Amino acid sequence: MRRLPRKDILGLEEISTQEMDIILATARSMKELVQSPVKKESSLKGKVVINLFYEPSTRTRSSFELAGKYLGGDVINITTATSSVVKGESLLDTARTILMMGCDVLVVRHSSSGSPHFLAQHLSCSVINAGDGMHEHPTQGLLDLFTIRDQLGSVAGKRVVILGDVAHSRVARSNIWALTKFGAKVTVCGPKTLIPVEVRSLGVEVSYDADTALAEADVINVLRLQLERQHKGLFPSIREYHAGWGLNQRRLNLAKPGALVLHPGPMNRGVEISSDIADGDQSLIEEQVTNGVAIRMALLHLLVGEVARDE
Ligand code: CP
Repeated sequence: MRRLPRKDILGLEEISTQEMDIILATARSMKELVQSPVKKESSLKGKVVINLFYEPSTRTRSSFELAGKYLGGDVINITTATSSVVKGESLLDTARTILMMGCDVLVVRHSSSGSPHFLAQHLSCSVINAGDGMHEHPTQGLLDLFTIRDQLGSVAGKRVVILGDVAHSRVARSNIWALTKFGAKVTVCGPKTLIPVEVRSLGVEVSYDADTALAEADVINVLRLQLERQHKGLFPSIREYHAGWGLNQRRLNLAKPGALVLHPGPMNRGVEISSDIADGDQSLIEEQVTNGVAIRMALLHLLVGEVARDE
C-alpha cells in the first residue's frame, strides 16, 4: 500500500517534492474517476472524514465532501454557526468531541494561523489544513501545481506571476512553496501595501508594477482582493486597484502568448480580474475546481485509504 510518510497535511513548506509527486500522480488517476460516469470507489470504505470549517467555503468544503464520498467514505460537515462553538466550546474540545465519534480525517479551516498544527499535535486522527488564517492553504497550492503541470508538463524555469493581495493570501504562500521547490521563477506583484516585505525571503522576485511583472509570464495566478481582511488605507479605491493591478486583456497581452490564467476563487469580477479574462480561452479557473476534487481524493486516499491504486 502506498502512503505518505506523515499523519497530517498542514502546509507545503514541510512537504517534499517527492511527496508532492506522489500526491499529483495519485490525483491523476483520481481525476479519471471524477470524470467517469460512475464516480465510486471503496478505498475509504469504513473511514470517516469530518469537515470542521470556522470560515465560509464553497470549493474546499464541497470538494472534500465529494472526495470522501467518491472514495466510499462517510463524510459529515460541521459549520460553526450551527454547532456548539456558538455556546463557547473551544477548538480543542470541539475537535476531541469529533474524534471520540470515530473520525479518521479532520479537515479544518480556521481564521487563526497554526490552528490545524495545534490540533494535529493533540489528536490521533489525520488533520488536513483547509486554510489557516493568512498562513497556508496546502490543498489549493497542490491543485494549482497540478493544474499548471497538466498544461505545461513541468514548472521548472517557467515564469509564474502571483498577482494581487499577497499580504492576506494563504494561497500565495502555499503556491510559493510548491512552485519554488519545483524550480519555477516566481514573481509576486501587487500594491506595495499588499506585499509583505518578508516574502522576498521565500525566494521570489517582488514587483509593484503589473505591466512589468507580466512581461513574458507563462502563468498568472490572480489572487482575490480579500476585502474582509483589509484595514483601511491599503489602496485608494477598488476602481484604482483594478486600474493598477487588475488582470484585463491589455495586461494579458503582455504575457507570453497562451499564458495560463488561474484564480483560486471566489472571484471579485471587475476588481482583480475582468470577466472576459475569467471566462476566456486562457482561463483554467473551472479546471482548477475539478482538479481540487482529484487532489483532495488523492490526499484522503494516501493518508487513510485501504486499497493500493495503480498510478
Ligand atoms: N479557493 C478556496 O479556498 O475557495 P473556498 O473559500 O470557496 O473554499
